[in-house]
Amino acid sequence: MKTPVFVQLHHDSAEHIRQELILGLTANPQPGGATVNPKFLYDALGSRLFEAITELPEYYPTRTEAAIFAAHSQAMTRSVPPGATLIDLGAGNCGKAAGLFAMLAPSRYVAVDISVDFLRTTLAVLQRQYPAMDMVGVGLDFSQALDLPPEAGEPGTGPRLLFYPGSSIGNFTPTQALFFLRQVRAACGTVAGSGLLIGVDLVKDAAELEAAYDDALGVTAAFNRNLISNVNRLVGTDLRLADWAHHALFNRLESRIEMHLVAQRDLTVRWPGGQRAFSQGERIHTENSYKWTVAGFSQLLHEAGFAEPLVWTDAPSMDAGRFAVLWASA
Ligand SMILES: C[S@@+](CC[C@H](N)C(=O)[O-])C[C@H]1O[C@@H](n2cnc3c(N)ncnc32)[C@H](O)[C@@H]1O
Repeated sequence: MKTPVFVQLHHDSAEHIRQELILGLTANPQPGGATVNPKFLYDALGSRLFEAITELPEYYPTRTEAAIFAAHSQAMTRSVPPGATLIDLGAGNCGKAAGLFAMLAPSRYVAVDISVDFLRTTLAVLQRQYPAMDMVGVGLDFSQALDLPPEAGEPGTGPRLLFYPGSSIGNFTPTQALFFLRQVRAACGTVAGSGLLIGVDLVKDAAELEAAYDDALGVTAAFNRNLISNVNRLVGTDLRLADWAHHALFNRLESRIEMHLVAQRDLTVRWPGGQRAFSQGERIHTENSYKWTVAGFSQLLHEAGFAEPLVWTDAPSMDAGRFAVLWASA
């Protein structure tokens, strides 16, 4: 049996992470207020809570995306190159990529994620299921730069299939998404057949969207509030779970779901070297999840340097779809 190679480029003990978090926590109440980047939702427990979210009846994206892959696998097989290096961005439990191994027949699997401990564990389990496959884990925060290490394979040696499912692209503002997709385009390299297979959540009814991010069981609330423990660990803040409530809303103007933590009383958060007062009702903005139209996202891919994408959705008419999977050849 092969052993996964693991390259750890992300260390969450670093001072720059502390500084990034303090900058967000101390951001001026006007106009936006305090923010924490959604990447900090994913410590090992956060990754497990996200797995649980994907099982919830209200959370349609995972099920809908899986149904699109199942319904259109033949068309995808004809378009996507076999034997490519499969690079899974934000791999999580690696389950989605593994579910496509039979269809994609990758020569190598490269799983990239900021949640380093969780990725190490899941990749080791996956290697036991696919003992002959070359597997590489990369612990990386790609929100700054998508710098893949040499262990991910040399870009010129074969086709590269960048895989970014689950509508994780929605965590980026449109400007950030364009910047990121340009880096993905560069990471595809120059070998013919390379490209990006991506899952994108589409604009829909606000009630359905808000339920998906505020389920009746309270798992998404736990996922959001778990960020408090992670920030305390990373910064040394004294945030108390009991003081913060989960809130999700669809901001139609910006076409995004927003998640916030709302202070339940007037309080002061302290950390070594600083503090910040919050009034009751004041928020920490913890996640955006932008919802796209197929036309809008295709245009973004074009601006990032990709060819006209092939698009599959869960509806006969593309505009009626709730979720889309796109293959954008580089
Ligand atoms: C919404 S989950 C999707 C997981 C899985 N790909 C799926 O579709 O079910 C987002 C994943 O991206 C990872 N992630 C979030 N921000 C990241 C960043 N800046 N760099 C690397 N990974 C990140 C998280 O740890 C998590 O596993």
